[in-house]
Amino acid sequence: MSLLIPHLDESNPTPLYIQLYQYVKHEIINGRLSPGYRLPSKRKWSRHLQVSLNTVDNAYQQLIAEGLVESKPRKGLFVVSLETDLLSSDFETPKPTPTWTQPVFSQQIDINFHQGNPDLKHFPFQQWRKYFSQVCMSDALIHHYPEDPQGEWELREEIAHYLYASRGVSASPDQIILGAGTLPLISLLCRIIGTEHAFAMEDPGFTRARATLQSHGVSVQPIPLDQEGIQFTALQKSRAKAVYVTPSHQFPLGTIMSFSRRMQLLKWARDNHAFIVEDDYDSEFRYHGRPIPSLQGLDHWERVIYIGTFSKSLLPGIRIGYMVLPPVLLERYRNHFSWEKQTASPLHQQTLQRFMKEGEWERHLHRMRTLYRKKHQVLIKEIERQLGEAVQIIGARTGLHILLRVHQRWEETELVQRSQKEGVAVYPISVYYTCPDKALPSTVMLGFGGLTLHQIREGIGRLAKAWLSSTSIE
Ligand SMILES: Cc1ncc(COP(=O)(O)O)c(C=O)c1O
Repeated sequence: MSLLIPHLDESNPTPLYIQLYQYVKHEIINGRLSPGYRLPSKRKWSRHLQVSLNTVDNAYQQLIAEGLVESKPRKGLFVVSLETDLLSSDFETPKPTPTWTQPVFSQQIDINFHQGNPDLKHFPFQQWRKYFSQVCMSDALIHHYPEDPQGEWELREEIAHYLYASRGVSASPDQIILGAGTLPLISLLCRIIGTEHAFAMEDPGFTRARATLQSHGVSVQPIPLDQEGIQFTALQKSRAKAVYVTPSHQFPLGTIMSFSRRMQLLKWARDNHAFIVEDDYDSEFRYHGRPIPSLQGLDHWERVIYIGTFSKSLLPGIRIGYMVLPPVLLERYRNHFSWEKQTASPLHQQTLQRFMKEGEWERHLHRMRTLYRKKHQVLIKEIERQLGEAVQIIGARTGLHILLRVHQRWEETELVQRSQKEGVAVYPISVYYTCPDKALPSTVMLGFGGLTLHQIREGIGRLAKAWLSSTSIE
């Protein structure tokens, strides 16, 4: 009994039963409660801790549900052996997920066409620092607790206004949950929706999202793409109950989902009581035509979960993303998951809120749109001038990356290696396919956000040298 002295804090917004459950779980995982250890009876422990029987019972139910303890009739609750549990043959191992490694360049790279790099030189660091200092000096942080698990209310208000005005997303701040980027939000969503139903996903698609779903034990069904977006007949056949799409700018192919495909998806979701996860990761940057409204804005049946991020439009290092939940999922979140801590830093949330409120965000977006449009124009012009008929440009209507299909005999790996020989990094696209053999042949990805105009011109010149000469690369 001496081991079991949890510190339960009544003033903490996390319910007591969760605190108790977390304490026992922690002790089990750390090995301080070993396999076979018998937990105190509910009655004994509730008296000892001066909490209700229900509090202990709820904590125990959660531990049983997670397989950390087992109930033996008329004997009590016992800690299970985690190792044997994990090794036993009937334990369902998650599907293999890709391991993620930073690319190791064998050559010195001085022009990096990485799709995740934004333009750092034009980020208004001075203003950001000013608002950050204001936040640090204000009382807001001292009086901050209990914090809102959905994230700072005022920031959610700013985001709701922005989404409505620019993306046609209809969301009250109430429906928005902030998080430290897209992946933690997908993890949370898995818990809210549940993991028993299959998720359909674009193939090729956002590998990290696929890995996140699989790591939760969700079965992911890859669906190929056509000119209009995710193939609808394949989706219908999949029997999935949710689908993950990037309609404004398919990642990585760059397709923009047609209006009729959007309507098909929405009706599919309505008829099948399914959900659509709309990842609108870089819709701010569009170079041709009018902005396309979000799927969420077209949804009359409350089946769309809208996810956005500040990683592309601001900086990836700020680590703030947002998710707009339809009412039915919001209720589930509130009932079961609102005890979870907010993952995005309150310091950055409050800084961002001031940044948006003072109009810096709109000014920044305006500047970046002009700048990225210019970079995009130069990139396309230089490709046409220096690579001409030797390549086909794919997916160049929007966003911060394009694909280049090279009409040469080189395979993807060779294209990447030849570029590196010239000090230029371009990226394979086969990693985004569930079956890399099915990737578009001889195609690589080029992001241009983080490069100067000079680097773009120079980089394309070096690619022409790398790819158009017939010398071997040993
Ligand atoms: C399709 C897609 N969604 C979202 C993101 C952003 O992820 P995060 O918000 O975690 O930075 C990326 C980043 O490359 C992406 O490619």
